[in-house]
Amino acid sequence: MCGIIGFTGKQQAKPILLDGLRQLEYRGYDSAGYALGGNETPTQIRRVAGSVQDLVNATLEDTSIEHYGIAHTRWATHGAPNETNAHPHQAGLITLVHNGIVENYSELKTKLEAKGIRFLSQTDTEVYAQLLEEKRKEVLSQRASDWTKISNEEKESIVMEALRACAKEVDGHYAVLFLVDGVNDTLFGLQEGAPLVATEANGSAYIASDLQALLKYRSEMTFIPKGKVLIAARGHLRLFDASSGKAETPKFEKIEWTAEKVEKEGYETFMLKEIFQQPMVVADTLSGRLPIQESSGFIWDHLKAHEVLWKNVKRLQLVACGTSYHAAMIAKYYFERWAKLETQVDIASEYRYRSPVFEPGTVVGVISQSGETADTLAALRLANESGASTFSICNVPTSTIARESGFQYPTKAGPEIGVASTKAFTGQLTVLCALALDVGRLRGVKSDGAISFQGLARLPHDCDQILQNSKEWIELGAKLSTKKMTLFVGRGTLYPVALEGSLKMKELTYLPSEGFAAGELKHGPIAYLDPEVAVIVLAPKDELYAKTMSNLEEIKSRGAMLIGIGTVGDSKLQETSSAFIGLPQCSLGTLPILAAIPLQLIAYGAAKALGRNIDRPRNLAKSVTVE
Ligand code: AGP
Repeated sequence: MCGIIGFTGKQQAKPILLDGLRQLEYRGYDSAGYALGGNETPTQIRRVAGSVQDLVNATLEDTSIEHYGIAHTRWATHGAPNETNAHPHQAGLITLVHNGIVENYSELKTKLEAKGIRFLSQTDTEVYAQLLEEKRKEVLSQRASDWTKISNEEKESIVMEALRACAKEVDGHYAVLFLVDGVNDTLFGLQEGAPLVATEANGSAYIASDLQALLKYRSEMTFIPKGKVLIAARGHLRLFDASSGKAETPKFEKIEWTAEKVEKEGYETFMLKEIFQQPMVVADTLSGRLPIQESSGFIWDHLKAHEVLWKNVKRLQLVACGTSYHAAMIAKYYFERWAKLETQVDIASEYRYRSPVFEPGTVVGVISQSGETADTLAALRLANESGASTFSICNVPTSTIARESGFQYPTKAGPEIGVASTKAFTGQLTVLCALALDVGRLRGVKSDGAISFQGLARLPHDCDQILQNSKEWIELGAKLSTKKMTLFVGRGTLYPVALEGSLKMKELTYLPSEGFAAGELKHGPIAYLDPEVAVIVLAPKDELYAKTMSNLEEIKSRGAMLIGIGTVGDSKLQETSSAFIGLPQCSLGTLPILAAIPLQLIAYGAAKALGRNIDRPRNLAKSVTVE
């Protein structure tokens, strides 16, 4: 969703801000803008509805040499995605960008309007900027100061006080970054639930909502904790507690990701690169964790704490959104079968608003690629507050969800840039499969042979084998792009895979698509089968093969185009289907991981044939930081 970048230092700010915006593009946005602070002149803002490239093109004549500024990519929540609603927003001396939502903006706006303030945009952000400016004027008059005559230090202290007063009146989870005319070379930020990360390098300070925008400057970063104010000036970062105003020392952490990893490296899109990285993701995620022998356990970081977490577990609740939710659905099969553990799976936006029961022995696991998804974070906080033991499966170890969870099982997928999640899903399933096996061992459950650590160990090789046929699946996708809709059906662990295939299809192609448990077909969906519909049936030779095959006949007799995904060499499925994809012989546990890959490629091929923006589908954001 929205992205923030700020710079103050020795270089010209504009190119650094625009470059930062490019690094944040993958998050999804619909307008962009920047503001450059002028020590002698008022701050100038430039905004466009459209892409960062549109902003670059529209501001070619702007050769300002200013050394500090802020920039933003906006994903519209309050107000249409147009230039007026794009950030930064200005109110008097304040110029501000914002991520997240001001929940009580309407009430605050009414109060400000009653004071005669007129608003130019429909955004909640402008309300924040206006309120902050009001507070600044109030503090100034309380101190009987003249803004034009006081020192930079005194102005800074006035702004700090105004910001703290403003934060008390604003409800919501958000982050703001702003500059104030007259407070030279200085940026102010507040983290109130949306991430802000910062670094200092060679006399300059950089701030962003996402570390990806800063990786090229330095690998040591400081993550601004919630409730803290950040002041950046002349290459230095200072931190203050928003409630007490007390100064604190920023803590810097070394980040293992490198800037090189976020390049396309010769692939036509990030998504394609990420699909092809899956064998490596599985290998990296398992590396150093596989047991030494069958009877010993997986080697997790902080092994003792891992054992304590699962020691007295009675039930598991898995909570997530989107693709991560599909990983949780598959994990339910894993945990119930191999760990004999009662497992409940929830969509985070539902979980947080009902009354989940946290009896003693409840362990809550949240799954999130980004580690910043607002609903998943809220679900984690609810579980933490209720005293349940919690863990996270995240791809970003520095994310808020990873930090706030009781225990972390990180995936090692590296930065995922394509909005459509692929390799992160594979990484999540790899961890979940290993974890379910290990929890089964800790609970003394006898293995049923459906998965073993040897099966997991050969997974990178099996993924690689599937990718050998990628051209074929992409071409098949192109054929499906002409269909009215595509249905995905499967049973057991392949039912959530069917949902995932359908999610990939609709988010990338914008065409209707649905996923179903194969047994549900005749309870409704069969009604819309006709020759313009394609049905992808997941029917490998597993325990449910015969059942799925009979569903296949039902589909065929309604004239729909049938695509069979099954075990390599299955001539029966091959003969019945218009197209056939053979999966390598594998264990039941790794089957859903392997079956998802052709579906990613099919959706990719369909989107490519339709000329869609594959890495950044319309209306979507990579990191959904508002509910
Ligand atoms: C998947 O392709 C989507 N982009 C989306 O469903 C995503 O999985 C969901 O928003 C959850 O994100 P998270 O894993 O970062 O929490």
